[in-house]
Formats: sequence, C-alpha cells, structure tokens
Amino acid sequence: MRILLTGGCGFIGSAVVRDLVESGDHQVLNIDKMTYAATTQSVASVAASAHYDFLRADIVDGAAMDQAFLDFEPDAVMHLAAESHVDRSIDGPEEFLRTNVEGTMQLLQSTRRYLANETDKEQSFRFLHVSTDEVFGALGPLDKPFTESTPYSPRSPYSASKASADHLVRAWGETYGLNVLITNCSNNYGPFHFPEKLIPLVTLKAIAGESIPVYGTGDNIRDWLYVHDHAAALISVLLDGKPSETYLVGGNAERTNLEVVEAICDLVDERVGGVTGSRRDLIGFVTDRPGHDHRYAIDASKLHGELDWEPTVNFEEGLARTVDWYLANEDWWRAIQDGSYQGARLGLR
Ligand SMILES: NC(=O)c1ccc[n+]([C@@H]2O[C@H](COP(=O)([O-])OP(=O)(O)OC[C@H]3O[C@@H](n4cnc5c(N)ncnc54)[C@H](O)[C@@H]3O)[C@@H](O)[C@H]2O)c1
Repeated sequence: MRILLTGGCGFIGSAVVRDLVESGDHQVLNIDKMTYAATTQSVASVAASAHYDFLRADIVDGAAMDQAFLDFEPDAVMHLAAESHVDRSIDGPEEFLRTNVEGTMQLLQSTRRYLANETDKEQSFRFLHVSTDEVFGALGPLDKPFTESTPYSPRSPYSASKASADHLVRAWGETYGLNVLITNCSNNYGPFHFPEKLIPLVTLKAIAGESIPVYGTGDNIRDWLYVHDHAAALISVLLDGKPSETYLVGGNAERTNLEVVEAICDLVDERVGGVTGSRRDLIGFVTDRPGHDHRYAIDASKLHGELDWEPTVNFEEGLARTVDWYLANEDWWRAIQDGSYQGARLGLR
C-alpha cells in the first residue's frame, strides 16, 4: 500500500512509520509540521529507505494537502498528527482545535477531492483516524471498561478536540461514502516519548535524582499499552478492519499513577546509583490537574475477536524496556531539555 501518514515524527507516528517501512511491504509518505513534539531522530533509522518519503507541512493547509495527495497518489491515510498533551490543551486550547479539528477536516476534504479524480480507488481507499480513549470521559472505580458503544463524554480541551475529530470522520464516512476507520487507544509508553508525559518525565527526573511530581494523590488510573503493540494494532486495522467500524485498543494494564511512578523509581534504582536511599523518597504530591479524569479502562475484545490482535508486551517488561531506552539514549532527550522543554509544570489553568 501507498500510505500517506500524518504526524510521523511524533511518538506513536514514528513507531508506525518505522514498522511500516521496515516491513518493506509499503510506501510511506510522512507529513509532519514538526511542532515542539516532533523529532527527526525518531525516524532516522528508516529515513534513507526507498520506502520512505517526508514532507514538512501543516495538515490545516488544504492546498498543501491537495498537492501531497496528487504527488504521492496514496491508497490509504493514517491520520495521527495532533496536539496531544492534555496539560498544554488547558494552557492553550486554540492550537488543539486548529490542528485536531480543522486539520482533520482539511485532510478529509483533500481525501475527497483526490478520490473525485481517482474513481478506481474509491472502493478500496481507507482513511484510518487515530484517536484516544479520553473521548469517553472518566470511569468510576467499579465501572465496566469502555467499549465501542460507550457514549462520548470528553472533559478536557484535548479530549473534546479529539471527540470532535472522531465525529467529523464518521460524518464524512456516512455523508460522502469514505471508507473510514477509527481507533481509540489507551495511554501509550515506550521509546521516543516526549518528556512532558508521565512516564518519560518521571524517568528523566528519577535519573537526575530530582523531585518527582505526582498530581493530586496519585490515585488516577490509566490503562497502559507499549507503543509497538499500538502500532501493530493500527496496521492491522488499516489492512483488515471493516470500513465504518471503530476499534478500541488497550493494554489490559490498569495502574494508578502512583504505582507507575513507584515502579519507575525502583527500575532506575536498580540501574543507576547517585541517590542515597530509594528514589521513591523523591516523590512529592502536587496540585492536581484541573478536571483530572479519574479512570480510563479499555475492553479490546472486538479487536481481538475480529483481527486477532492482542498486546505482546506486558507492562512490567515494557516499562523496563522503556527505562533502559531512556538510559541508552541520553543524546535524544538532552537535545529536548536543551531546547524546547525542561520539565516545567504545565496546565495549572
Ligand atoms: N500518546 C498516547 O498515549 C495516545 C493514546 C491514544 C491516542 N493517541 C493519539 O495518537 C496520535 C499520535 O499521538 P502521539 O502521542 O504520537 O503525539 P505526539 O504529540 O508525540 O506527536 C504528534 C505529531 O503530530 C505533528 N503535528 C502536530 N500538529 C500538526 C499539524 N498541524 N500538521 C502536521 N503535523 C502536526 C507533530 O509535529 C508531531 O510529530 C494523536 O492523534 C493522539 O491523539 C495518543
């Protein structure tokens, strides 16, 4: 397949790009605006491949997207480009609506305009929109996990912008007959994760022996999925999912934030000296995120039943691999710390 992929220099997009290109089965055009969250090192291992092309462009720029479709002649779109950090959406929601809502609309429109002149591709063309479990809102401790039929109830500017995009994608499928697919996934973690998110932020603070902030009481619960398992799910849905369907993707690994942070402290203690006693002593509880969703959990049985997908990396193994990756790739995160992000608290309203 010729796959036009957006956001391929970000955390999840780059994992998908690496897997697609390394398979040798596909031709990939990575379109990325290169925001603060993007790094070229995340795709450096495949950048020279004949199966890979890169275009620096903004998905909101309809003319640039039209030209990219004409030049690349894709068979499918994988849409991952987004503003993705809840705390930043609290500080500045405008960019989230611009990229996540308007950008998604522009991409859908460019797809339509392209297919209007490529009628032989209309039946087979696929548009996969990558979304989040946060669109479903917050669960209570005893609630059943989210399923594909859970009503939307977004509670942050980020999740509201992603929910809006999901609705647009479904509407374009119904109204214009596009073969759309939507995935909603739980929290990812793994290599090349920008250090504003919980796991890389805590890992780097633990390595440095700095105080480790935990929001509220640390009892918020997330389901965690290793990023390459998400990438495999996305490729599987793109190739074999049923058009118009939604698939939930999850890791079967619900943990409180405090459990995650303590596990990272222990892993870093095992690997690095420099701190007297346990790094758990560095943990401090800080003002909670405004509107912090209490719990997310995913029932991924549809994806398992229809496409035979399941996570291959359990949380303990994935977390150890992730900590080891950060220890081995100091150049990558030092460049970010020297440049766009030094670990400051965001999203306090
Ligand atoms: N990280 C998670 O845990 C998670 C979980 C479920 C779903 N998702 C979704 O997966 C997708 C990827 O998430 P991520 O964590 O890799 O995000 P990320 O922030 O690491 O990367 C986003 C990428 O999109 C690019 N981008 C942003 N605005 C753009 C624009 N206007 N035009 C072109 N490119 C633009 C950025 O430069 C960056 O490379 C997002 O849609 C996100 O909502 C993420």
